[in-house]
Amino acid sequence: MYFHMRYVFFIFILIATLANLALVVINYKYAFGLLLTLPLTLLGIRDLLQSKHNLLRNYPLVGHFRWLFEKIRPQIHQYLVESNTDGRPFNRDDRTVVYERAKKEGGIKPFGTEIDVYSDDYRWVNHSITPKHYDKELYKVLIGNEQCSQPYSSSVLNISAMSFGSIGAHATAALNKGAHLGEFAHDTGEGGISEYHREFNGDLIWEIGTGYFGCRTDDSHFDEALFAEQAILEQVKMIEVKLSQGAKPGKGGMLPGEKVTQEVAITRKVPAYEDCISPPSHSAFSTPIEFLEFLSKLRGLSRGKPTGFKLCIGERFEFLAICKAMLETNIYPDFIVVDGAEGGTGAAPLEFSDHVGTPLHEGLLFVHNALVGINAREKIKIGASGQIITGFGMALNMALGADWCNSARGFMFALGCVQSQRCHTDKCPTGVATQDSKRQRGLVVDEKAPRVVNFHHHTVWALGEIVAAAGLHHPTELCPRNICYRLGPTTIRTADRIYNFLQPGELLEGTDQPGYREFWKMATADSFDPALDWKETQIKFAPMFHDAAL
Ligand SMILES: Cc1cc2nc3c(=O)[nH]c(=O)nc-3n(C[C@H](O)[C@H](O)[C@H](O)COP(=O)(O)O)c2cc1C
Repeated sequence: MYFHMRYVFFIFILIATLANLALVVINYKYAFGLLLTLPLTLLGIRDLLQSKHNLLRNYPLVGHFRWLFEKIRPQIHQYLVESNTDGRPFNRDDRTVVYERAKKEGGIKPFGTEIDVYSDDYRWVNHSITPKHYDKELYKVLIGNEQCSQPYSSSVLNISAMSFGSIGAHATAALNKGAHLGEFAHDTGEGGISEYHREFNGDLIWEIGTGYFGCRTDDSHFDEALFAEQAILEQVKMIEVKLSQGAKPGKGGMLPGEKVTQEVAITRKVPAYEDCISPPSHSAFSTPIEFLEFLSKLRGLSRGKPTGFKLCIGERFEFLAICKAMLETNIYPDFIVVDGAEGGTGAAPLEFSDHVGTPLHEGLLFVHNALVGINAREKIKIGASGQIITGFGMALNMALGADWCNSARGFMFALGCVQSQRCHTDKCPTGVATQDSKRQRGLVVDEKAPRVVNFHHHTVWALGEIVAAAGLHHPTELCPRNICYRLGPTTIRTADRIYNFLQPGELLEGTDQPGYREFWKMATADSFDPALDWKETQIKFAPMFHDAAL
């Protein structure tokens, strides 16, 4: 007879069940054993007969351990296996520093660094023999050019966009309360302004995405009147149009029906408990010029509040097309937020998170250079987001061109997020990224709001200490020369020697820089399509594109 060891456990349980049955016939008091083995036997038989899972058909009963271990693997890995520096997206050291700073427990590292300072990706800030003093009062950035009548004095660190819907009511309220207490801004995300954004009166950046949630007509287009009604609220300090987001650029979004509760539906102005779709592109404009006219309209409707946009850099000529449109229309956004491919999301296809969009440093440098190249850098402030959760992360990005930084997941950690990566399931174990009221019970707003404040305060303080150690007064004085990169065992370069930087007006005068020259020729203010034939251009300028990285 054909028999294999993989059936041993099942056969053992089967025999035990038969034995228990016999015992029960003798005396019903033996029923307890049967209660244990009979369900297992039935499960084993079901495993053998079902056709969905190969493993269970071949390994009845024991095959279930595979699913059990798969389920607890992330926890085992995170708590027992992972080292302090190798977890992803955020390693243990990074998460711990946020937890400690949020709880005012220090964020101090004893005994010395665990980072290999001779590895090829090591970076550091050069310090000065004459450090300065950190002055908290100086750590503000004025956003708003001469086309805006209500400039906003922003913190150098703000809460990045996370929509009500992707995160819950308690999380939204705790973030907003923290923003109010700590005097920094809270980006609404594309899900509209909910009552939880309003409760504590923290400064808001109102984000408008392709779904125009909160300001949309019944057929999903932009509604001017609904926009104006909320944009003039005192609490709304800036308006941000989302073109794309680093974790899923070029892709719209979908909030699954079960997360579209009555409250979410009312805020977004969509039907409850139906999948809520944001399309991949905007319907309010289709060319670079129309885009800037749209921004100008929003600025007008908001009575002159700073108005800008957020994007992850993709096709370079498209961003340069917006630059050309600025020159042609004389409409300048007040700010641009550059999001990196390393950014987070509530849900995105793996391929998009892993392989679509430009990482933050390259995107940021490109935007900074393009604006310098058209003499518009003074008019437009740049925000940066993408895994920035420490003072050094802020310093690095500010040296490369950012005026301020945003953090989404840093603030989620401050709320108690444990990086379980289940935001899309509505089963967030810490009650942050869920609409389930029972799970949200775990997140107590009054307890977590001070942690949001503490994380912000101590991170900006850490930035301040770095800036002061570098001999500077303000983080905007940081420049590429302050950051050193190790490129090999004996090669070190400062960022200004690694990346290309354009001179003021260089794009207007005609640049020779690879990565800009050809893309500038391809850009046109009238269309997001390339001005030159795409195929012909690729053949003609192939070497330039290879060099295009920076
Ligand atoms: C749960 C979650 C929801 C998000 N929702 C939005 C959103 O509505 N709009 C948006 O522009 N970005 C959204 N983002 C992206 C963040 O605003 C940010 O750009 C990105 O996560 C990078 O920052 P981080 O690395 O600090 O998280 C979301 C991110 C997360 C984690």
